[in-house]
Amino acid sequence: MLQIRNLTLSAPLLLAPMAGLTHSALRSLLKEIGGVGLLSTEMLSAKRLPSDNPTLSPFLVSTEMEHPISYQLLVAEKEHLAPAIDKMHQMGADVIDLNLGCPAPQVRKFGGGSKLVDDTSHLRHLVAEARKLTHLPLTAKIRLGESLIESKLKNLARMLEGEGIDLLTVHARLRKEPFCRKARWEWVGKVKNWLSIPVVANGGIFTVEDGRRCLELSGADGLMLGRGAAIRPWLFHQLATELYNCTLPSLVIDRSSFYFSFVNHLEDRFRPERRLGRLKEFTHYFSQTFPFGLRLASAVQNSTSMQEARQRAIGFFPEHDPLASAAD
Ligand SMILES: Cc1cc2nc3c(=O)[nH]c(=O)nc-3n(C[C@H](O)[C@H](O)[C@H](O)COP(=O)(O)O)c2cc1C
Repeated sequence: MLQIRNLTLSAPLLLAPMAGLTHSALRSLLKEIGGVGLLSTEMLSAKRLPSDNPTLSPFLVSTEMEHPISYQLLVAEKEHLAPAIDKMHQMGADVIDLNLGCPAPQVRKFGGGSKLVDDTSHLRHLVAEARKLTHLPLTAKIRLGESLIESKLKNLARMLEGEGIDLLTVHARLRKEPFCRKARWEWVGKVKNWLSIPVVANGGIFTVEDGRRCLELSGADGLMLGRGAAIRPWLFHQLATELYNCTLPSLVIDRSSFYFSFVNHLEDRFRPERRLGRLKEFTHYFSQTFPFGLRLASAVQNSTSMQEARQRAIGFFPEHDPLASAAD
């Protein structure tokens, strides 16, 4: 099993931080289905975090069942670290993750995400400071870089380890590569060989076969699922039992009950104006694996209220679910 500092995960399977997707409703659904070893928030701005209200902010709302959980920090300046990390401690974070890979121009503009990697000396200070400020497991998530240069990647990875990072997740794509590009899992293997801390592979894992192949090519200590977690929320369970021999209650893939459980969690956890956008985002992914999915996605996409979306979705599942089950 995967050990991160003093935290032992039930399975080396991590949920990726994803803006607009990795919130309380998805995390709760994943916990219900089982198999996930470490949950995550989406990236949280270190500047904004201290003043955000944990019971009202849709980025922070969380429940007792959503543990262990990693809080991902988007930070550019050292002075923002202490108040942000303090707040994460208060909110019950189990792990703190540093976002060193986000390629979005608006994030790079203020010096965060992948921009941090451009200035190693600044990054070193930032990581050292974060390490001083928390006793929690401190992790980082990177991409492979601007281009495939082994020495650069090795220096970065070793620097992070040297400054006290407890686990490194490698999203196996270059900074400018789109998510549709095939992930370079063998490069995660290179990083793994350079370090003694655990290295987790991320990118392009959508099936058990992908997970198996990724482990073969990378020798990674664990897998992190991004879009795959929303497309097939049951994939963690399958990976846990089929790749890691975890003993879990048996699983019935019932898309309808998973979908409406997600809808119920949205309604329980979020204020009304925060629900529909999140349902549309989730449905875009969740609907990708079954024959009637596209029609479900567009029906929900065109809804103007949660009630309308729910009503339309109800119309799809009873008629189509048997067909859908056969597809998995
Ligand atoms: C909608 C969306 C939002 C994302 N937001 C974040 C984020 O907040 N922080 C982060 O480190 N990565 C973010 N990512 C990247 C994912 O964590 C992950 O690295 C990427 O999706 C590749 O994994 P996958 O192929 O399993 O989806 C996001 C990806 C998507 C699709």
